[in-house]
Amino acid sequence: MSVKQDQVLGFDEHDEMVRPAMEVVEFEETAKAMVSRRGFLSGGAAVGATAFVMGSTTLAAGKALAGEEMKMSRLAFEMVKANAHDTVTVPKGYKWEVLASWGEPLFSNAPAFDPKTGGTGASQEMAFGDHNDGMALFVHNGRQILCVNNEYTNLNTLHANRADGKPTTADDIRKSKAAHGVSVVEIARTGGNWGIVKDSEFNRRITADTEMDITGPARGHDLLKTKADPRGVVAKGTWNNCGNGQTPWGTYLTCEENFNGYFSSSNKEFPLTSQMKRYGISHDDWGYSWAMADERFDLSKEPQEPNRFGYIVEIDPMNPTARPKKRTALGRFKHENAEVEVAANGHVVVYLGDDERGEFLYRFVSKNKYVSGGDNSNLLEEGTLYVAKFNENNTGHWMALTPESTGMTEAEIAIYTRLAASKLGATTMDRPEWVASNPNKAEVFCALTNNKNRGVKPNAGGDATPAVGPNPRVKNNFGQIVRWVPANQDHTAEKFTWDLFVLAGNPAVYDDANAGSKNVNKDNMFNSPDGLRFDKKGLLWIQTDGNYSNEGGFAGQGNNQMLVGDPETGEIKRFLVGPKECEITGAAWSADRTTMFVSVQHPGEKGDSVWPNGGMPRSSVIAISREDGAIIG
Ligand code: FEO
Ligand code: CA
Ligand code: CA
Ligand code: CA
Repeated sequence: MSVKQDQVLGFDEHDEMVRPAMEVVEFEETAKAMVSRRGFLSGGAAVGATAFVMGSTTLAAGKALAGEEMKMSRLAFEMVKANAHDTVTVPKGYKWEVLASWGEPLFSNAPAFDPKTGGTGASQEMAFGDHNDGMALFVHNGRQILCVNNEYTNLNTLHANRADGKPTTADDIRKSKAAHGVSVVEIARTGGNWGIVKDSEFNRRITADTEMDITGPARGHDLLKTKADPRGVVAKGTWNNCGNGQTPWGTYLTCEENFNGYFSSSNKEFPLTSQMKRYGISHDDWGYSWAMADERFDLSKEPQEPNRFGYIVEIDPMNPTARPKKRTALGRFKHENAEVEVAANGHVVVYLGDDERGEFLYRFVSKNKYVSGGDNSNLLEEGTLYVAKFNENNTGHWMALTPESTGMTEAEIAIYTRLAASKLGATTMDRPEWVASNPNKAEVFCALTNNKNRGVKPNAGGDATPAVGPNPRVKNNFGQIVRWVPANQDHTAEKFTWDLFVLAGNPAVYDDANAGSKNVNKDNMFNSPDGLRFDKKGLLWIQTDGNYSNEGGFAGQGNNQMLVGDPETGEIKRFLVGPKECEITGAAWSADRTTMFVSVQHPGEKGDSVWPNGGMPRSSVIAISREDGAIIG
């Protein structure tokens, strides 16, 4: 089937078109088939009942709020009501402004953004990329440098110069490749307003054509060798960079997610291997048409090119000439983000989600130890990758992916990570999105955004997806956030305990499991948690990328939004609502923490938004601050 991106389909919907579910069952029937809400709240007998016993294990949070706890709430703002407005809504006493939008020039010799055409290849290479997502702020000699992922594009807005919104010329492809990747920009607040410091020596675009070194166990492996790189050591570019990470040694981690959607085959008889199928590589791309101007995206001409993508890339933002490094030791899958912790024993731990229905949650533990002030530049070069196994009794453990456990070489584990994890019987998850680790205690959270295939069909590797444990709902439309606590507060420990921090839902429509957990009510409800970030106070910022129809099972939930959760009490409050048809994702704080930066991604992805300036909608990073200038987060 030929799958092309157009204005009426969201990103997830394209993915589903490539590999549709076996059957479609009406949402209402799904709801009826589930356990009653009352049943699950009491931990009664039903699918995965133990998973629903919020606060009944050694983990204290997730319980309903009693009156006294409400009075002591740490979420000191007036909750924003759900809405479907075409603007950003923040609580009383807060304000927002646009920091940077797609196409904004980073240099004074670059042309201004042209909203009629969306610019050219040359202008885009000198401008802020499209579809801003994960981000991190670095402070260097008092200057503030923001790294922002540019995940993907909407064809109809990117190619506004074409009547049908489809790329037509080589320059359209050049523009498309340059709209992806990472934007590194120095930012400053001048005259009270945040903006990009034009011509800063730190300003830099990393795109789908930027050369980068392949490091780690897969470096030089036969599977990575191509005509352009017969040694298998230098990859060209990075794209579909979704979430991110930040290391204590001052580097930025960008995470390659749906890298598969850019490859196609001019020969429709080209045989797809089982490994290609597991990673969603098919004869058709998602409408980007990069093969039109660059043969390496044509599988029949360069079948190993996809093996060079799907990794974590490490970037040194303070050194604009440093080559980015692909860290194959952290595995190859549809990476969401990379949450970095330094364990008490000095080893660096990176938590990693694979965002696909029924895929897995991973942990990397470095071989060497972090040394404060030392040379930590290659800590992500060597280590062990683990995959998570969750048991129904709220315990779990990490399983090491090694040659002994998998029968695969270290390089093969790095390249075909999904297959290695399947061999160990890891727990199939409801699309692991961002992982966030509490800076004040050893507990880690992962957003499991939704999974309509849960309990319906296996994952692409044939692994079963029973509705149990941290993925308790059949045809899960709302998503949940799982939390685990490493044994002995040690992030390198084998064992952990877990619970569900929240089960999202709609208690205004449902009275069964689709109503959500006790800490979800008619006022704070949402669906499809995705972005997760902790602030310094230990509050969890929750961002959504879900169904914004505001109808049926999603009635009353409005546009995508950002909420704040308190891990200690389970309380959740809505802080922000985005404009129409956007997703809210990624967060960073200014050096003085009086400003929070957040990505508003793909406003008007189906054509119904003119945010932020009127006319063509543009993905933008916004800066949120308090009217009184106090610290936020
Ligand atoms: Fe790009 Fe899984 O979100
Ligand atoms: Ca996204
Ligand atoms: Ca995401
Ligand atoms: Ca998502």
